[in-house]
Amino acid sequence: MTQPKIRAVRVRRAVVDDADAIERVRTDTWRDAYRGLIPDSLLDGLGYDATRRRALMSALPPHQFALVAEADDAIVGFCVGGRSRPPEERFQGEVYAIYVLPEHHRRGIGRALLEAAAKELADRGFGSMIIWVLRENAPSRRFYERMGGVHVRDEDRELEGLRITESGYGWEDISRSFGGSFGSVQRM
Ligand SMILES: CC(C)(COP(=O)(O)OP(=O)(O)OC[C@H]1O[C@@H](n2cnc3c(N)ncnc32)[C@H](O)[C@@H]1OP(=O)(O)O)[C@@H](O)C(=O)NCCC(=O)NCCS
Repeated sequence: MTQPKIRAVRVRRAVVDDADAIERVRTDTWRDAYRGLIPDSLLDGLGYDATRRRALMSALPPHQFALVAEADDAIVGFCVGGRSRPPEERFQGEVYAIYVLPEHHRRGIGRALLEAAAKELADRGFGSMIIWVLRENAPSRRFYERMGGVHVRDEDRELEGLRITESGYGWEDISRSFGGSFGSVQRM
């Protein structure tokens, strides 16, 4: 059943004290989205320790950003990004991760986060962006396609000791794809 759109979703810049909530979203969303795609042992072994996240967020370099989405005053999604890794000419910015808790999918929260992320990248002078997604993660690929992303290429990588293939989705002109919606997201 289609979920009702949440009108009161608010996307704001994350603060260091959001680290625990971000880690909860990451772990719970991984367990749901990646079940069957990566081994259960890895998913079940994930914890909620936010020590590393807290350290990363305490020292975000200027080219990076971290956003959270709040619905009904709870953090239900987050998104982080910055300069593409490794830097590339065609896609200067990158969304490193975007996660929304499964019970809040299909309510417009991913869209709100991605639009805000595009603005964060544009504000830092990045005119284009790329996102990498597990090749077998079909629902997220459809989300990126719906948001105007174009499949660029696949790359083999290592994730937590596993060999995986990721698919890159690119937006060559952020302002053309997202410029019209930069103002529509409520942000602090
Ligand atoms: C991918 C993800 C962030 C999308 O967030 P979301 O809040 O569910 O997406 P939205 O509701 O904002 O959807 C935006 C558009 O994409 C489409 N879309 C979203 N999920 C889709 C799916 N599974 N299949 C087809 N279309 C989809 C929606 O229909 C919507 O289009 P519309 O506005 O015209 O109706 C979320 O599903 C998620 O966290 N997935 C698990 C984690 C993950 O795989 N992250 C990406 C890897 S880094």
